[in-house]
Amino acid sequence: MDKVLVLNGPNLGRLGSREPEVYGSANFAELTATVIAAAKSENLSADVRQTNDEAELVAWLHEAVDSKANVILNPAAFTHYSYALRDAATLVTNAGLKLIEVHISNPHSREEFRHNSVISAIATGVIAGFGVDSYVLALKAL
Ligand code: DQA
Repeated sequence: MDKVLVLNGPNLGRLGSREPEVYGSANFAELTATVIAAAKSENLSADVRQTNDEAELVAWLHEAVDSKANVILNPAAFTHYSYALRDAATLVTNAGLKLIEVHISNPHSREEFRHNSVISAIATGVIAGFGVDSYVLALKAL
C-alpha cells in the first residue's frame, strides 16, 4: 500500500472548537479517522499529522521527498506567507511526487489576506471549501 503524508499546519489541532461555523464540528481525531478510512478504500495508507511549528512542517516535507511519499498539505495560515514552506513543497513536486493543497474552508470567500496562497503555484492541485471532504477528494485525486 502506498503511503501518503497528510500534513496539517497551525491551529488545525483545535478543530471542533475552533470557529465551528467556518471549519465544522469534526475535531482533529475525527478528521484523522475519516482520512485514514478514506485512504484505505483508495488502497492508500495515510499518515496524518498536525503541528503548529513551521520548522517541523518543513522537516516533514523533506521526509516526504526522502521516503518518496505523495503529500496532502493543509498549510493553514502558513498558506498565505510561508516561503520556507513553499520552498520545501517545491522540493516535493520537483522530486516527481504529488502535493495537493487542501483547505477545509474556501479561503477565497473569506478575508482578503486569505485570498493569496504562496503554495498553490507549485502544488499539483488545490481543493478547498468542502470541509473534511476536501481531504477525501484529494485522496481520490491521488
Ligand atoms: C485553512 C484556511 C486558512 O486561511 C486558515 O489560516 C486555516 C485553515 C482551511 O483549512 O480552511 O488555519 O487552511
